Amino acid sequence: MENNEQIFIMNHPLIQHKLSFLRDKNTGTKEFRELVSEIATLMCYEATRDLPLMDVQTETPMCTATTKVIAGRKLAFVPILRAGLGMVDGMLQLVPSAKVGHIGLYRDHDTLQPVEYYNKLPSDIEERDVIVLDPMLATGGSAMDAITIVKRSRPRSIKFLCIIAAPEGLKALSEAHPDVHIYCAAVDEKLNEHGYILPGLGDAGDRIFGTM
Ligand code: PRP
Ligand code: URA
Repeated sequence: MENNEQIFIMNHPLIQHKLSFLRDKNTGTKEFRELVSEIATLMCYEATRDLPLMDVQTETPMCTATTKVIAGRKLAFVPILRAGLGMVDGMLQLVPSAKVGHIGLYRDHDTLQPVEYYNKLPSDIEERDVIVLDPMLATGGSAMDAITIVKRSRPRSIKFLCIIAAPEGLKALSEAHPDVHIYCAAVDEKLNEHGYILPGLGDAGDRIFGTM
């Protein structure tokens, strides 16, 4: 799968290096959680590349200079519970002023359909650009539903940021929400018969919270 105008695959060496350790079945919960957070920070850097800038006047010790600051765009991060929570601190490292909303979804083990159990979004979301977070895009059902829920609150824009995507999920999500830019660190081979990504990293929520 190639980058296109909607899908951005972040193949930066630092991200790819950390992703190898994330996939490793011998990586323990503490290190797994740290890696998810670090990868989220690196992905945040890239996914905010298009934030508009404006000129300001700054007094340096030498003279007045015209310098640049981010032009008042407000962000909101919306993790999909549970696993998306693991990405929030890493994102906030770079954008501490962002607000954080939460959408609770779990995949029914038999049907693989997402089931909503929680939804709390910032009250001023209409003024914000939203980045929805989930480390895993498998069938795409959870991301599609979460983005549909966020869209009802009419934010200015929505991006989706995941660490590993299956080709099936990328296709489904990009077709269901063609206006949403999708950022991922890797596109894996396929889903297995239980809807898990191969080679993947297993169950992201269980590995973040140690509930295996
Ligand atoms: C995982 C993952 C995604 C979803 C992806 O969550 O974090 O939310 O599955 O699968 P999909 O693309 O086929 O919908 P899970 O349902 O295991 O819940 P959890 O994060 O609470 O463990
Ligand atoms: N959710 C996960 O956590 N891992 C997968 O491989 C698929 C869905």
